[in-house]
Amino acid sequence: MVQINSNYLKLKAGYLFPEIARRVNTFSEANPQSNLIRLGIGDVTEPLPQACCEAMKKAIEEMSSYSGFHGYGPEQGYLWLRESIAKNDFQSRGCEISAEEIFISDGSKCDSSNILDILGDGNRIAVTDPVYPVYVDSNVMAGQTGSAISSGRYKGLSYIPLNAENGFQAEIPSESIDLIYLCFPNNPTGAVASKNQLARWVDYAVKNEALILFDAAYESFIQDSSLPHSIFEIDGSRECAIEFRSFSKNAGFTGTRCACTVIPKSLKGKASNGEVVDLWSLWNRRQSTKFNGVSYIVQRGAEAVYSVEGQAQIQKLVNFYMENAEIIRTDLCKLGYKVYGGEHAPYVWIETPKGQDSWEFFDFLLNKANVIGTPGSGFGAAGEGYFRLSAFNSRTNVKEAMQRISGI
Ligand code: MLT
Repeated sequence: MVQINSNYLKLKAGYLFPEIARRVNTFSEANPQSNLIRLGIGDVTEPLPQACCEAMKKAIEEMSSYSGFHGYGPEQGYLWLRESIAKNDFQSRGCEISAEEIFISDGSKCDSSNILDILGDGNRIAVTDPVYPVYVDSNVMAGQTGSAISSGRYKGLSYIPLNAENGFQAEIPSESIDLIYLCFPNNPTGAVASKNQLARWVDYAVKNEALILFDAAYESFIQDSSLPHSIFEIDGSRECAIEFRSFSKNAGFTGTRCACTVIPKSLKGKASNGEVVDLWSLWNRRQSTKFNGVSYIVQRGAEAVYSVEGQAQIQKLVNFYMENAEIIRTDLCKLGYKVYGGEHAPYVWIETPKGQDSWEFFDFLLNKANVIGTPGSGFGAAGEGYFRLSAFNSRTNVKEAMQRISGI
């Protein structure tokens, strides 16, 4: 009989969002009349920007002619999109990133898991707690952890707590770590990191020859111009960081799929024989073998994000969701909840009322207000006692959700 990857057996029940969907389905079957409002998974609800739609329509037209047809594209993505990203998202902010260092993909979730393909065994790995569960689960699947312990944490991983006491800032570990996952603006807490804080991480990584995997999927929600959008705004980061970017949240591409990963050519790792190798070449090799690129049509849509109209339209989307976040923050504060995040991120992180743990509060909101959120404990042991509400929904639904919560 075929052998399976037994690491999968170490995984806890289900991935967080399918588990929520399962509970919600059970509730809906028992309460078919209920009108649920979904502020759980961070999935966008507003239509795609017009500029992206026009560009994709034009690309479809092209594809219908012999002269405009495109078959397989470059596995790294089309150069015109990589150049637009390099210029607009990085060089315009003073980051020394070239188009060649940008790899287009179908999502940051995939890339932040797939990156383990090019990393070796035995790295000392640190994640924050709470954390985007993909970073942990992908390490479990790849056999980079031990088994789960009663708190739900995994042996062999180092956890850096994010809580109200430390201002949801990741403190630099005192031990030596090889691989660090950071996400700012943070999912799930909505916290942001200043340039000084990121500089301390880069300093640590350079000194310890560690690699930082920096997830910047929510950078467009930053409202304060002094805050960094990219780890590559920090000196020294080209020697120690990989960054994940996405069109999912700023341009509404969750269903359309387009993202990118940035790997500086100067970034090095060590082979088991001690040889020093550049990670860019390994990722290039990995993508060439395992990936056939994002469709031409979708990449044309993503390119349109950088047009004058596209920029104005995505700014409008970001503003819209951030206004939702502000409504959630203000209304919950008025109701006496302790509320964090939601100022530079589309997630509001709230303390659950005394006597209710995260899943109890989930059930309470589901049953009493028909509002779906995400239990903090689903993001890690230190998320217990917290709850995440997403600002991705219509204005009507957000206001209605707040009204219902105020009535329970
Ligand atoms: C979330 O709700 O945390 C995100 O939607 C997950 C994701 O982007 O994959």
